[in-house]
Amino acid sequence: MTGEGFEKELSERASFAEKVLKDHMPKEEGYAGRVIEAMNYSLMAGGKRLRPVMMLESFRIFAGEDSLAVTIYPFMAAMEMIHTYSLVHDDLPAMDNDEYRRGRKTTHVVYGAGMATLAGDGLLNLAFETAIRGAVKGRELPAYDGETPDRYMAALSVLSRKAGIYGMVGGQCADIVSENSPYESDDYARDVLSYIDENKTGALIESSLMIGAILGGASEADVKKLERAGSNVGVAFQIQDDILDIEGNEEQLGKPVGSDIRNGKSTYVSLYGMDEAKRKVKELSDEALLILEELGCRDSFLGRLFEYLIYRNK
Ligand code: IPE
Ligand code: IPE
Ligand code: MG
Ligand code: MG
Ligand code: MG
Repeated sequence: MTGEGFEKELSERASFAEKVLKDHMPKEEGYAGRVIEAMNYSLMAGGKRLRPVMMLESFRIFAGEDSLAVTIYPFMAAMEMIHTYSLVHDDLPAMDNDEYRRGRKTTHVVYGAGMATLAGDGLLNLAFETAIRGAVKGRELPAYDGETPDRYMAALSVLSRKAGIYGMVGGQCADIVSENSPYESDDYARDVLSYIDENKTGALIESSLMIGAILGGASEADVKKLERAGSNVGVAFQIQDDILDIEGNEEQLGKPVGSDIRNGKSTYVSLYGMDEAKRKVKELSDEALLILEELGCRDSFLGRLFEYLIYRNK
């Protein structure tokens, strides 16, 4: 498939993920109307929808193309809600203090910091409500060989763990602690950075792939392989994000460049330099592709997506 053909397919899949998300969005009504409006503003501001696209593809790899993909839809919507909440809070004045996201003013600029904080809280809770309802109403699935035989419980457990202190929230914590604080040794700083990237960004990408696989019928061993692939791709994705924060184009990115330097962030570029950062993105992505090869799905859409992300400019 040509680069253009791939981009067209990706954009169709992203539109589909957006449609699934729309089907799960709350109505702006009642005395909570304002916070729901802020939630929907953040959700519908655009965004590449990569996590739900990855989740659906990982589901299809294990369940088959003709499977009843409706099983995974509430989880796709939940993942995009959690990711969006992480961005709304990440942009707050108390965190990265950014005013532009997904090509629009950030939620706190439009609705105020209080309402943006609540919109994030609302999105996180709605994500779990949505996924749990999906699990309760979902069709019966074959037993899982992991800790719990119930695949929905296993998926919910991954969703909650990787979004919290053992995942995204943990990574965001270390990201803030590291701001403007030179560590006593380079080795220590690099160790903390690995933790930051694996958690603030790696965790939600891992979890997207894992949930797709669990609900698609994968074995625990294969889910663990996808977790490793997701970690590699997730860290590569964050390093590329750090590269674009310096070399990117604001119009294309839909968010400001120079945010990391302004905030004194510890990033792969600041600790290793630009050339090494670019080399690392390729190395990690190749490692992820090798894992897909092991799983026999190197030629899937997921494999092409991993390759495409190496050179993304938005
Ligand atoms: C941005 O994620 C935050 C990071 C984890 C680097 P995306 O680049 O996927 O953001 P959207 O969803 O497309 O806006
Ligand atoms: C944030 O990393 C990752 C999240 C968990 C939200 P960044 O702070 O670099 O993300 P951007 O550049 O603001 O999208
Ligand atoms: Mg940040
Ligand atoms: Mg930020
Ligand atoms: Mg960034």
